[in-house]
Amino acid sequence: MSLICFASPKGGVGKTTLTANIADALHRLGHRVLAIDLDSQNALRLHFGVPLTDRGGFLAGLTQGGGDWRGQLRQTPSGVLLLPHGAMDLRGALDMAAALERDPDLLGNPMREMLSEPGLVVVADLPPGPTQALALLAPMATMVIGVLQAEAISAALVPEIESGRFLGTGTMAALLAGRLRVVLNGVDLASRLSRASAEAVARHLGYRMIGAMSREETVAESLACQRLLLDHAPDSQAASDLKEIARLIAAALPPATACVALASAPVGGVISAMAPAAPRATAEASQ
Ligand SMILES: Nc1ncnc2c1ncn2[C@@H]1O[C@H](COP(=O)(O)OP(=O)(O)OP(=O)(O)O)[C@@H](O)[C@H]1O
Ligand SMILES: [Mg+2]
Repeated sequence: MSLICFASPKGGVGKTTLTANIADALHRLGHRVLAIDLDSQNALRLHFGVPLTDRGGFLAGLTQGGGDWRGQLRQTPSGVLLLPHGAMDLRGALDMAAALERDPDLLGNPMREMLSEPGLVVVADLPPGPTQALALLAPMATMVIGVLQAEAISAALVPEIESGRFLGTGTMAALLAGRLRVVLNGVDLASRLSRASAEAVARHLGYRMIGAMSREETVAESLACQRLLLDHAPDSQAASDLKEIARLIAAALPPATACVALASAPVGGVISAMAPAAPRATAEASQ
C-alpha cells in the first residue's frame, strides 16, 4: 500500500540501521510493516535478531524461480514482518543484476503484490549508490529517503539529491525529486565539523530534510546485540530522534487506524500472518 525506500549515493551512512529501526518505530505507531532487504550484504535481518545460520531470503532466490515472497517472510519478535535478502556470492549478484536488467518485473511484480496488501507499509533497504533496484522502485515509492552523514562530503552530494539525478535523468529525475526526503545521520553536536556540515546541508535542503539522528554508541551497540534501538536504549537521544523521524514519515501514510480495520479482513496472505501492533508500544512511540 505504501513504499518507503532508504537509499543513498554513499555507502556506510546508516541506511540499514534506519530501515530496521524506522520499520520498528512505524509498527509501534500502529502500522502493519514489512521490511525488505534488497542489499546482497544481507544485513537487515541482523537488526531483527534473525540467527546468522538462517541464510534464506527473497531476492537471493529470485533468479531460481523464487518469486514466492510470502514463503520467505519471517515474523520477527518486534512484530515487523521481514523479507531477508538471503545469502549471495559474487556470481549470484552479477546474475541477479543481469536478470533484473532483462526483466524488471522479476522484482516489480512481487513488489506490486506487496503494495496491493491493504494497510501494509513496505520499508525497503537499498544497496549504496545508484542501483537497478532503486531505479525500479523509486517510481512506485511513496517516499525515497536519502541518508547522508553529517560530514563534509555530504555537501558535495546535496546537488545529486536536490536535482533528483540520484533517482533518474531528465524529466524523470524532476518527477521523482518531489518524493525525495533526506535524513542526516550521525550528527555529533560536540563536533564543530559535524555540526557545521549538518547545518549547511539543512540550510540547503530546507523542507526536504525530514530529520536528523545523533551519533551514539548505543546505535552501534544495539546492532551488536541484534536488538532494535527502541528496545535496547529507549531513553537515548538517538531513540528520540528516530521516533520523531518515524512520526513525520507516518504523517505521509494512510492512517494506521484504517490499516487495523482492513487487517481484520479475512485475507489468506501476508496480513493474516501479522500480529496486531501492541498498544503499549504504540503509546511509547508517540511520546
Ligand atoms: N547514528 C549512529 N550512531 C552511531 N553509529 C551508527 C549510527 N548509524 C549507524 N551507525 C553504525 O554505522 C555502521 C554502518 O551503518 P549501516 O550498516 O546502517 O550503514 P549502511 O548505509 O546500510 O551501509 P552500506 O552502504 O554498507 O549498506 C554500523 O556499524 C552502524 O551500527
Ligand atoms: Mg546497508
